[in-house]
Amino acid sequence: MCGIMGYVGPGDAAPVVVDGLRRLEYRGYDSAGIAVLSDGAIKVAKAAGKLARLEELLEIAPVSGSVGIGHTRWATHGPPNDLNAHPHTDPSGRFVVVHNGIIENFHELRTELTAAGQTFTSDTDTEILVHLVALEYDGDLADAVRKAVARARGAYALVVMTAEEPDKIVAVRKTSPMVIGIGENETFLASDIPAVLHRTRRFKLIEDGEMVIITQAGAVIETIDGDPVDRDELVVDWDPGQAERGGYDHFMLKEIHEQPNAISETLQGRLETDGDVVLDGVDLTDEFVDNLPAVWLTACGTAYHAALVGKRLLERTLAVPVMIEYAHELRYSDPRILPGSLMIAVSQSGETADTLAAARLAKQKGARLMAITNVVGSSLAREADDVLYTRAGPEIAVASTKAYLTQLIALHLLALHLGQRRGTVDLELAIQLESNLAELPTAAQRVLEMEEQVIESAQTLADNFDNGVDDVYFIGRDLDYAVATEGSLKLKEISYLHSEAMPAGELKHGTLALITEGMPVIVVLTQTHVYEKTLSALQEVKARGAHVTAVVYEDDELIAEFADVVLRIPRVADLIAPVLAIIPLQLLAYHSARILGHDIDQPRNLAKSVTVE
Ligand code: M6R
Repeated sequence: MCGIMGYVGPGDAAPVVVDGLRRLEYRGYDSAGIAVLSDGAIKVAKAAGKLARLEELLEIAPVSGSVGIGHTRWATHGPPNDLNAHPHTDPSGRFVVVHNGIIENFHELRTELTAAGQTFTSDTDTEILVHLVALEYDGDLADAVRKAVARARGAYALVVMTAEEPDKIVAVRKTSPMVIGIGENETFLASDIPAVLHRTRRFKLIEDGEMVIITQAGAVIETIDGDPVDRDELVVDWDPGQAERGGYDHFMLKEIHEQPNAISETLQGRLETDGDVVLDGVDLTDEFVDNLPAVWLTACGTAYHAALVGKRLLERTLAVPVMIEYAHELRYSDPRILPGSLMIAVSQSGETADTLAAARLAKQKGARLMAITNVVGSSLAREADDVLYTRAGPEIAVASTKAYLTQLIALHLLALHLGQRRGTVDLELAIQLESNLAELPTAAQRVLEMEEQVIESAQTLADNFDNGVDDVYFIGRDLDYAVATEGSLKLKEISYLHSEAMPAGELKHGTLALITEGMPVIVVLTQTHVYEKTLSALQEVKARGAHVTAVVYEDDELIAEFADVVLRIPRVADLIAPVLAIIPLQLLAYHSARILGHDIDQPRNLAKSVTVE
């Protein structure tokens, strides 16, 4: 995810901006650059690679000025090279921008501007914006930016400077986050608070659809239509550790709360308005897609649980057999992988040794390898024929949360993309899924707001533990079972409670013997076609005195009779439900571990990336 910095003040902007970019490095990037206003002219320095390369350039050819902007870029349109690095200037060199996000009507605008005689020096969508601003400029930068963004569709945090008005920076936000830092006689812009927290503790948050004009004297916020906005200041009193964790007590909680934004990032630029799904990095021919004999999925741990959801999605949308195998099992088996099959390896890190070995085996057998991964340039990404990046941003906590959720989104996009190309996805379903996907960031935010009920359930688990009961059972059917497997893993890895997930129909084949008075049972109940079946299993555990926590849709009226704690999620298409149903279970694991006093971000015996067998 790109990072943005801006500064207006009495000091030299260049070191302030570079320092801010360094504090945004955790977001991941592949090039960096800055622009400063100096003696009525714009000076730009930018380079592919890490900040050290930019700093080398600045040492050879220093730039300085009291107004500056900077950017760390994570490539989307065009490769990560010097030309595509931000900032971008217009042909006159009098206007300069940095941008985070994706302009969806990029091709349309570029074609129009090219036909009108404009020339471009990069492959980026961002360069379009600076051309538009320069063309619209008529003595008022804010007005020109307003007119330019009115022509652009998509998501952006856009920051603009011009040599014509050398005392200010203008920024607009649509979806991509940005904050204002208020100092003594100096003002900052940044993608997030930790970038400038060592310089000021006073902030104003910029909301979606707002414009901000910063000068040395402070910030003026307006709606994009020009109406004034009165925003209270936020005084941030985080200690250095909290600052690193964005104010949260643990990285895991921060990452859980980052999920609405992570979903937006995964979706950005991939859902077209005409219903198509465009997947950058996926290059399958029609012949391959039409003649697919089978799809395989392989992964470990949480990524395997995402793949379990993927299996169901792909089966329903592609009408081909979809096989799934743990990577550590697959690599030592003799799988009947037919040449021309698609092997999808799912791995947050892209470095898991077993997943890499299973992926290589599939390639040897003639499968085409697709990676679903979060890490650009990881081993898996390099070895794969196609890569679908999840764009979750760096995940620090060992217990995976936002990486899992974005893997689900990537699998949804893939299922829709392939299903539409094969003509096997029902149009009505495709339209419903696409509109549900687009609404997921808001729906996920609503689920995060139910933390209080989750804490009630977590307290029961912790109390049970104090009374000598340290078992928990997760049940569900179909996609609810897939969610249960991940809920169970989350709980066991950080709370150290013994937890097992099973299809609800499996209970009476053995495990029911362990259900006694007060035993916690967590049930996921979102799949309409098996709802009543799961309810029967629930009655069986309830009859034996189990303490039941249920994850259901918000309009479920039946459940109150059967469950002790009810965790409600917004109603969506059943196929989408796993994306929302897992969130309360992540919170349940987090709060159980917190109440029990465990090391949440680094649970015992576990590593973030398992690069050995
Ligand atoms: O990097 P990967 O996704 O390949 O890692 C696979 C598993 O080790 C990982 O998902 C693990 O299960 C999670 N950290 C658990 O939360």
